[in-house]
Amino acid sequence: MPKHVAIVMDGNGRWAQRRGLKRTDGHAAGEEALFDTVEGALEIGLPWMTVYAFSTENWRRPLDEVRFLMRFNESILLRRRDDLNERGVRVRFIGRRGGRVPRRVAQHIADTEALTAKNRRMTLTFAFNYGGRAEIVDAVRKLAEEVAAGKVKPGSIDERSIARHLYAPDMPDPDLMVRTSGEYRISNYLLWEVAYSELVFTDVLWPDFRRENLFDAISEFQGRSRRFGAIDADGNPTGDA
Ligand code: IPE
Ligand code: IPE
Ligand code: MG
Repeated sequence: MPKHVAIVMDGNGRWAQRRGLKRTDGHAAGEEALFDTVEGALEIGLPWMTVYAFSTENWRRPLDEVRFLMRFNESILLRRRDDLNERGVRVRFIGRRGGRVPRRVAQHIADTEALTAKNRRMTLTFAFNYGGRAEIVDAVRKLAEEVAAGKVKPGSIDERSIARHLYAPDMPDPDLMVRTSGEYRISNYLLWEVAYSELVFTDVLWPDFRRENLFDAISEFQGRSRRFGAIDADGNPTGDA
């Protein structure tokens, strides 16, 4: 079983366009997909799930769509947080808090994190105003401040020094990254963290995704042989002997 599954929820716009609907209707339809998937994750005891809700590049979209996405994410939080809390889900956010994120949304994010902070059944992380490069930049800035303050020697900086300054330092790296909608890209998602993740791509558009699709992706993951650059005990590079 994977410990951490990261999902790129993609294809909302195309789902809507195919039905003659507005792109934003596709985002709205993605809510059911998300919560069915969360339900499935709880069912199988997955301890960590991370979903890409809004990227640092998504600000390039038309203002109407950006506004919709800000309000929509806020409304999901407000409508779902008590239910998630009762189910033992710790809700967290990774990404830049300031910048163009409306202050009210940032406040609801902080409140939801505080409300669910003690839950341990599953951690559901929303990557929101998130960019993998921005995350590394932010980590390097904090590290540079420690160097400037004389607390850290440049020569002692290693991978753990970077990892310690990521948005969620206690989050294990994803074992599996799933992307929907037939796009074969990372799109600046969890760049540091996916170094050795298994990647599964599906043509299903996000609003059509359900827990069964998560289970299929996990089955595919279970058929993979992870080597992390090494070879197996028999000296086989395949690990499948
Ligand atoms: C993913 O669906 C949701 C977000 C990026 C917020 P898209 O809106 O990217 O849908 P497509 O890729 O245009 O179909
Ligand atoms: C990635 O999807 C971001 C989210 C799912 C929130 P995009 O649709 O924004 O990615 P690109 O533009 O196709 O790479
Ligand atoms: Mg897309």
